[in-house]
Amino acid sequence: MNTAVRSASDYIEQVEEFGAHNYHPLEVVVSSGFGAWVTDVDGKRYLDCLAAYSAVNFGHSHPVLVDAAKAQLDRITLTSRAFHNDVLGPFLEGLAKLAGKDMVLPMNTGAEAVESAIKVARAWGYRVKGVEHDRAKIIVADGNFHGRTTTIISFSNDPDARADFGPYTPGFVSVPYGDAAALEAALDSPHGRDVVAVLLEPIQGEAGIIVPPASYLQEVRRLTREHNVLFIADEIQSGLGRTGATFQCDNAGVIPDLYLLGKALGGGIVPVSAVVGDADVLGVLKAGQHGSTFGGNPLAAAVGLAVVGLLETGDYQRRAAQLGAHLLSALKALIGHGVVEVRGAGLWAGIDIDPALATGRQVCEALAARGVLAKDTHGSTIRLAPPIVVESSELDWAVEQLVAVLADFGAK
Ligand SMILES: Cc1ncc(COP(=O)(O)O)c(C=O)c1O
Repeated sequence: MNTAVRSASDYIEQVEEFGAHNYHPLEVVVSSGFGAWVTDVDGKRYLDCLAAYSAVNFGHSHPVLVDAAKAQLDRITLTSRAFHNDVLGPFLEGLAKLAGKDMVLPMNTGAEAVESAIKVARAWGYRVKGVEHDRAKIIVADGNFHGRTTTIISFSNDPDARADFGPYTPGFVSVPYGDAAALEAALDSPHGRDVVAVLLEPIQGEAGIIVPPASYLQEVRRLTREHNVLFIADEIQSGLGRTGATFQCDNAGVIPDLYLLGKALGGGIVPVSAVVGDADVLGVLKAGQHGSTFGGNPLAAAVGLAVVGLLETGDYQRRAAQLGAHLLSALKALIGHGVVEVRGAGLWAGIDIDPALATGRQVCEALAARGVLAKDTHGSTIRLAPPIVVESSELDWAVEQLVAVLADFGAK
């Protein structure tokens, strides 16, 4: 093994040589981080405006979360669910109460939370709703991103996510996102009686921070209730403070049957995900019907409990709302000056760059050179989701860097 790895390019080449090529990262090699900032192997600092796709909502190395993890590391990290541990209960109770629901199914990654909810919804459909066996359908939305497992990519319409990974899992129907009439038509169709759930992102993150019309989630809630169908809100990226509320559903004034949580639930320290719902739905699972070796492990539970503690204060939600309003108005001023459109909610923004100037990737590379880390999606969109601990002046500085980058590409 070559242990004499030193320069940034050495690290990058090593990953290229020994890692599967399923990512195309920017050429930045991060070695440490605190708060909203990370430092690369050459000592250069960057404002992290991606926050690991919202997994680092509370900032890198948040002292409360790191202390919770360290204290737990010194006690016990894994017991499996074959036995009880003394941290799981407090975490489950804390998260259930934060969400205003009866119970929690703890898992690890976001995709596992989605997979778990699909199983719960199907079992609920057969055991409670009375859907004929093996006929359950789940309605999803075009442009969705719910993860990368074979079942989940079966209902993606992104060719990169799907191509060559079939045969696909049946039982999903996709309708246009943000279109309540299309959802209603699907529910009223001949297959409608087999529908057990509607699974949606309250804001579509990977699709480019697509914010649906204001009344959409309320319409989804009304229609799902009328048709005796579960409403599953995938808040894995939108939840836990990002949009200026505990859940984006709160901003819309709706309560789904199941919340899917992940990313920030692990505080950027460990993967922690969860399905959160009431006993009449989540209670369909009986012993042996679902599980995970690491789901609900003591380390995850300790960090998750500390995350719940941070959110209980409401401070992060308020801060994201205030900073987000500031950021979005600064970004909207760039429309017509290299920016075509800006969308967002809370501290989460999607910026469509004028494709005549540059690709999203080129803008992100130029931003990185100026010390701002952001991520492109779908060609010309870049998204900003800085840790909520970022300062207002730092956001102003990031926007200044974007203005300078756009000017370099010829924006007027
Ligand atoms: C809305 C949503 N659901 C699910 C996932 C999958 O989460 P994970 O990558 O932890 O499996 C993501 C990841 O980006 C997401 O944004």
